Amino acid sequence: MTAAEFVARLDETNQAVLRRLEPEATLKPEVSGALNVTNLLKVALKNEIEATEIAARWLVSTTDVEVKMAFARQAGDEAKHYRMIAERLGELGFDARSFDPLAQGFGPLFKYLDSLETTVERVAAGQFTREAIAVVKNRQFIQFCERAGDAETAALYRDVIEPDERYHHDLGRRLLLSLARTPEAQEAARAAARRTLALAEELQVKALATAGIHHAPGC
Ligand SMILES: [Fe+2]
Ligand SMILES: [Fe+2]
Repeated sequence: MTAAEFVARLDETNQAVLRRLEPEATLKPEVSGALNVTNLLKVALKNEIEATEIAARWLVSTTDVEVKMAFARQAGDEAKHYRMIAERLGELGFDARSFDPLAQGFGPLFKYLDSLETTVERVAAGQFTREAIAVVKNRQFIQFCERAGDAETAALYRDVIEPDERYHHDLGRRLLLSLARTPEAQEAARAAARRTLALAEELQVKALATAGIHHAPGC
C-alpha cells in the first residue's frame, strides 16, 4: 500500500470508531451535580498540559527537523490553549494559578504515548489520532457550552482551540505521508492509532461512570 492509501485507510478506520463518540450516537446529556463548564475546563487544563509535555518530549528526542518543528508548533499551541483556558476559568471565578492539573500524576493515555519509541507511532497516535479525537470532543463541548448558555467559552473553542487541534491532526497527516512507507511502519502506525482510540474510549467510559462526564474537551 502506498503511504497515501495507508493514510486514507487509517483515517477511515479512525473516523468509524470516532462516530461512536459523536453526540448523535452516544450523547444523551445527563448533566447533574457539579458537571459544569468550570469543572470541564479543569479537565481540559490537564489534557492541554499533557499534550504540551508529550509534544515537548518528542521534540527533544527526534533529529528529523520537519518532525521536530511539528512537535514544537504543537507544544506551543497546547501551552497557548492552557493559558487561554486558565484565563477563561479566571473569568468564571476559578483561580487556575492555585490549581495543579497534574497533582494526581499523568493519565493512562499520556503514559502510553510516552512509551512509544518510533516517530511513525508517535505521529500516528499523538497527532493524527489523538487530535482527531480532540476535534470530535471539542465539537461536543461547544454544544455543551451553548446549552449551558456560555457563549464565550463556546467561542474560544470554536474560533481558536478547535482550528488548532485540526491543524495538529493535519500535521500528523502530512508527516505520516512521508513516514508510513513500508509495511512495517504502516503496521506500527495502525497499532498505535488503534491503541490510542481504545484508551480514549476506555477513559470516556470511566469518566462517564465516575463523574458523569462525557463532554470533556480534548486537545
Ligand atoms: Fe492539539
Ligand atoms: Fe490543545
